[in-house]
Amino acid sequence: IHENYDKACRWTADHIAKRIVKFNPGPDRPFVLGLPTGSSPLGIYSELIKMNKAGKLSFAHVVTFNMDEYVGIPDDHPQSYHRFMWDNFFNHIDIKRENVHILNGMAPDPEKECAEYEKTIASFGGIELFLGGMGPDGHIAFNEPGSSLTSRTRLKALTLDTKIANSRFFDGDINKVPTTALTVGVGTVMDAREVVIIASGHGKARALRESVEGGINHMWTLSCLQLHPKAVIVCDDAATDEL
Ligand code: GLP
Repeated sequence: IHENYDKACRWTADHIAKRIVKFNPGPDRPFVLGLPTGSSPLGIYSELIKMNKAGKLSFAHVVTFNMDEYVGIPDDHPQSYHRFMWDNFFNHIDIKRENVHILNGMAPDPEKECAEYEKTIASFGGIELFLGGMGPDGHIAFNEPGSSLTSRTRLKALTLDTKIANSRFFDGDINKVPTTALTVGVGTVMDAREVVIIASGHGKARALRESVEGGINHMWTLSCLQLHPKAVIVCDDAATDEL
């Protein structure tokens, strides 16, 4: 728990950097990092960019897998998660384009796209560290309430709550928010050797309480972390209001 968002982000970026440096990745042994979108990770991305520009951290041998992508909007759409990641992170660091993996929301066969994503993750030996955010309803990636805690990468319908929350990025118009997304499953996140979640602001307080102090259940999918051997939720004070 940190006093404010900036401190939580600095701690998290530092933690990720230490993991990468300690792993000592190379061409035949890349560090595999899972990444989220949303406003919560933005401060972490800007800290990591600063470290990269200062020569303290290299992404040359880092392979990334993003959590999710909307279905039906092209990569270059201003609100696509592809665009978000390149604009806010990848374009500012020394990562190699071929090392970036993001689900294709325009794939003609979404089921195949998701199965191949799982296979690609496995081909790199799994994810070393999965960074994530959380939805106000306690979802992880786009694993909406009711998702199986053993789910794998798949097509998921977005709940009304999520469409309302994300409409702020679509001119405030819920009708412009895609209705479905491709997302890694809860099981996919749980397979990562470490999971780090950033939770900021009072809007996440109830979800944090349910996920940390409630029982493990599929209505607050983040509660799955209670079963993970190495998981940390990094919060600012406001997110802990209901603990
Ligand atoms: C979306 C993403 C999640 C993210 C959530 C919270 O639903 N699919 O991965 O955690 O938004 O976003 P924010 O950090 O903007 O609150």
